[in-house]
Amino acid sequence: MAQVFRIGIAGLGTVGASAVRILDRQADRLEASCGQPVRVTAVTARSRGKERGLDLDRFAWLDDPVALATSTEIDCFVELIGGEDGVAKAAVEAALGAGKHVVTANKALLARHGTKLAALAEKNGVTLQFEAAVAGGIPIIKTLREALAGNEVSHLFGILNGTCNYILSRMEDEGLAFEACLAEAQRLGYAEADPTFDIGGFDSAHKLAILTSLAFGTAIDAEAVHVEGISSISSIDIRMARELGYRIKLLGVAERTPTGIEQRVHPTMVPLSSAIAQVMGVTNAVTVAADAVREITLIGPGAGGDATASAVVADIADIARGVGGAPFGRPTTALRKAERAPMQRHHGGYYVRLTVHDRPGAAASIVNRFAQADISLESIVQHRSEDAAARDPAGRSGAPVPVVLITYATTEAAVRAAIDQALGDGYVVEAPQVIRIERE
Ligand code: NDP
Ligand code: HSE
Repeated sequence: MAQVFRIGIAGLGTVGASAVRILDRQADRLEASCGQPVRVTAVTARSRGKERGLDLDRFAWLDDPVALATSTEIDCFVELIGGEDGVAKAAVEAALGAGKHVVTANKALLARHGTKLAALAEKNGVTLQFEAAVAGGIPIIKTLREALAGNEVSHLFGILNGTCNYILSRMEDEGLAFEACLAEAQRLGYAEADPTFDIGGFDSAHKLAILTSLAFGTAIDAEAVHVEGISSISSIDIRMARELGYRIKLLGVAERTPTGIEQRVHPTMVPLSSAIAQVMGVTNAVTVAADAVREITLIGPGAGGDATASAVVADIADIARGVGGAPFGRPTTALRKAERAPMQRHHGGYYVRLTVHDRPGAAASIVNRFAQADISLESIVQHRSEDAAARDPAGRSGAPVPVVLITYATTEAAVRAAIDQALGDGYVVEAPQVIRIERE
């Protein structure tokens, strides 16, 4: 019998438990395709006694992830604990240093330390694989690293966080409150241990930083990502977007611009008729534009145990087959430092919602400020206050009402300047809402 390829799994939560189940279920298929049996031999998690619906008696249990990572009883260490530092980092470094191949789903770790970990893998002649770290079950890492090797990528964008897309979809479809949708995403195993990473946009930013490195051949620069989350998106924005022919998505965008590489994560208005607007629920989608292939879009489940473990198992199978190569598509010494494009120079359309007192001159003063900043408006919408009882004979209530502006393409700097001027006029009574628009 061929030698067994031995796996040690650290972390038996949503993803780890699913990985164990898939490796069990697909044992014959994996043996046939890898030319050797692929078996979990040792595991670790925080609590040994926790009920996980798994028979763990078959495996060696080690209390310490670092001890598992360096154990002579494994060939490949699978890190499914999470966290950008702490035990996950220590264990991955120890495994690579001990000459073990590593598979991880930990985008936070990679976004912060990916280039150094890749260098450590290269130094020790082992493989570091992380397909599950971006967009769950979608094979976007392999696509950028291998399938698009003959292309120069100009830009990529996508829905990179299943939790946020799930929340925005359910808020729109069912009119549910933000908190209820988040709680459901947590129950379904989509959210990070600390869901601030999801709703604050940081998880998408980690993923975008990894994709940017693969797409543009640059060292990971997570600090360069402009990040905004979805917490400020209200039901009124979702309704106004629809009325104006848009849907709100949390997008990650990486783009070559004349001033450098722009990396940004923020809520985005996309046309209701666009392909990306149809991507609902926990589903993710990534579009890559490149010279030879022109444009491709990958769509699939972006979070959840089985979808993510599918990618983890694919990485394990690649390693068992001897498929390796530089983690970021080229040796770390060949990864360039990216020029950062300043966000103030971002060019595009904007949705701006300003809440003003329903008084004469309020909307006119705002429009005037935008005209002074040389911004052309595509549309302006002001609905009457719903508080009919408070209206005077002319129909004015004086109550706060939203004024929504949709601009033609302009710069971030111009929009911010116009808003600052409008705030100074004294009509605006709440913090402004600004959502960028991607029209294609
Ligand atoms: P969970 O919180 O469900 O599982 C984490 C696991 O790590 C648990 O089994 C926990 O043990 C174990 N653990 C925590 N701390 C320690 C420690 N100090 N020593 C040993 N084990 C420890 O997380 P997920 O499975 O959801 O996520 C795992 C990784 O996969 C993360 O990096 C996450 O970002 C990533 N990921 C998750 C996706 C998802 O949809 N959930 C999708 C893509 C990536 P115990 O069970 O005993 O508490
Ligand atoms: N919390 C992440 C998400 C898990 O919701 O997309 C998948 O990376």
